[in-house]
Amino acid sequence: MKIAVLPGDGIGPEIVAQAVKVLEALRGDGLKIEMEYAHLGGAGYDAAGDPFPPATEKLALAADAVLLGAVGGYQYDTLPRPMRPEQGLLRIRKGLGLFANLRPALVYPELVHASSLKPELVSGLDIMILRELTGDIYFGQPRGIRTMDNGERQGFDTMLYSESEIRRVAHVGFQIALKRAGKNGQGKLCSVDKANVLDTSMFWREIVTEVAKEYPAVALSHMYVDNAAMQLVRAPKQFDVILTGNIFGDILSDEASMLTGSIGMLPSASLDAHNKGLYEPCHGSAPDIAGKDIANPLATILSVAMMMRYTFARVDIAQRIETAVRKTLQQGLRTADIAEAGMQKIGCAAMGDAVVKALS
Ligand code: IPM
Ligand code: MG
Repeated sequence: MKIAVLPGDGIGPEIVAQAVKVLEALRGDGLKIEMEYAHLGGAGYDAAGDPFPPATEKLALAADAVLLGAVGGYQYDTLPRPMRPEQGLLRIRKGLGLFANLRPALVYPELVHASSLKPELVSGLDIMILRELTGDIYFGQPRGIRTMDNGERQGFDTMLYSESEIRRVAHVGFQIALKRAGKNGQGKLCSVDKANVLDTSMFWREIVTEVAKEYPAVALSHMYVDNAAMQLVRAPKQFDVILTGNIFGDILSDEASMLTGSIGMLPSASLDAHNKGLYEPCHGSAPDIAGKDIANPLATILSVAMMMRYTFARVDIAQRIETAVRKTLQQGLRTADIAEAGMQKIGCAAMGDAVVKALS
């Protein structure tokens, strides 16, 4: 298992260090794991003047999987856009062809009360958001700021999806729905768009409907994105797999993450067509708490579990990591972000140690 490790910025290095502890423990158990480090985001800019330096690209291309912390920091906010940390993230996604972004929103029984919604609305919640990650208005050309004939300036972007882009991510969505179909055998996939207004969405809906014919065991529904945003806070448990484009997925996945009350718990996977993947927590670099040993490393550790499941097809190890995380929660161990009033809080490194201990 060749893993490129990109700690990134802010709390990135400290949370990644905990995930690396887990990988090292697994290596101690005989897994053949190779790890090599490189810079991404602000760290790339500082080290090489580029948020996605060539050395990082080379390492990431050669690896089977990439483990990423997070990117971004106040000190980079005034840089010209190509130099900003976020560009490093967008370029690595595009450069590695990571079009399928899996963002689970899972409520842990121990953390039900962390949600801002009533416990009965979220208890047992288990949604998988599949966000298309390398197309849409994020990457569509032309874009820019231009001056019109009348002298007025105008900002513009292009929302764009080609048939093959929609088709390949739809297949991933239906396959995930099939895999998740429980004992009742019915997988559910809700495709989210804005087909009542956007041509891109009308086309999206047409192609997804076509692909659905190959998956008769999956129940396909369609929903407009504004309604989906509302339904997610009204009755989130109606959803199983949500399939959507890049920009809608960006927004809905942030919303869904908060249903769980603990964005510090949520991992993500971004996959190419051959299960090569980049794994990162859903949360950001949290520069305000960087270096204080109070960040929650569980999302990053759970991202390693996703890596084992999707890139290395080692469901057994994925489950072992997930079980260890559950155990630490059951032991009452909490970082500050998920601690209820009166609970004792532990730091980032102590949480990493606790998970490693619970692995055995
Ligand atoms: C995310 C982030 C990124 C995105 C930013 C940092 C470019 O919000 O991963 O959701 O918009 O995709
Ligand atoms: Mg986002």
